[in-house]
Amino acid sequence: MTPTEYEYLRKFLKDNSGLDLSADKQYLIESRLLPLARKTGLSGIAELVQKLQAGSRTLITDVVEAMTTNETFFFRDKVPFDHFRDTIMPEVIKARAGRRSVRIWCAAGSTGQEPYSLAMCLKEMGAALTGWRVEIIATDLSQEVLEKAKAGVYSQFEVQRGLPIQMLVKYFKQTGETWQINPELRAMIQHRQLNLLHDFSQLGTFDVIFCRNVLIYFDQDTKINIFNRLARQIEPDGFLVLGAAETVVGLTDTFRPLPDRRGLYKPNDPRAAVAKPALAGAAPRMAVMAGR
Ligand SMILES: C[S@@+](CC[C@H](N)C(=O)[O-])C[C@H]1O[C@@H](n2cnc3c(N)ncnc32)[C@H](O)[C@@H]1O
Repeated sequence: MTPTEYEYLRKFLKDNSGLDLSADKQYLIESRLLPLARKTGLSGIAELVQKLQAGSRTLITDVVEAMTTNETFFFRDKVPFDHFRDTIMPEVIKARAGRRSVRIWCAAGSTGQEPYSLAMCLKEMGAALTGWRVEIIATDLSQEVLEKAKAGVYSQFEVQRGLPIQMLVKYFKQTGETWQINPELRAMIQHRQLNLLHDFSQLGTFDVIFCRNVLIYFDQDTKINIFNRLARQIEPDGFLVLGAAETVVGLTDTFRPLPDRRGLYKPNDPRAAVAKPALAGAAPRMAVMAGR
């Protein structure tokens, strides 16, 4: 790959997905894009760059998807889900007791393990949420991971990563070598394609936003821009949950970290959170939580 081709691809990826590659990541590009080039019948990176420059839509999507990291697993890092159960939801239940509804956004949900972990946490809360309208929106840039998330089908290896055995038995059905999450949990989640670089104000406002392990791939300005727009989509008393390697500190004052609750943030200035109409277009999918 020539330096010019590398620079083209770096800029292309930053513009299309936010991915910020340093000057020495040629090996990463080659390891991910050479197999794609071959699969597409192209001779190598040079021809792939030419096709991108010519504006081939399918190739643009394929290149972006090939370069995204989709690593995820059930109850990843555990602590955020403990916070969700022990800090976030008790506060939300108290604050929303009048309208009995909660809106949650999983902003880079990948293949679904994160939103389904949240759905399982909510089911485990049982009677505390009976009769509540629960809306979980899981979005991701990649259509491919969203298809898998929608299907809710996981391999033996995937269900062995982070998922307690009693949850596997309770919420999944085994079919041959794979496990499918039960229809009630699947119905709790609405999956949508969404690029965080683009406007997301149409999603409305949320009580809880999980945006984990995606901003680490972006440069500082992109992170600041996304944090500032996230602040407008969160209720003044809502919660933002970031990944273990991510923080708002030193980037923006629209959120503040909660002491002793690693990864958990509150919007700083309630006036920054402008109320938005809930979900334009199609009727939102909401689960009404049944009693046990
Ligand atoms: C490493 S996974 C994290 C999944 C999950 N949040 C977790 O922590 O386990 C990052 C996800 O972010 C998605 N992603 C990357 N760039 C994105 C963008 N610009 N907008 C939305 N999603 C993006 C990728 O497709 C991928 O599924």
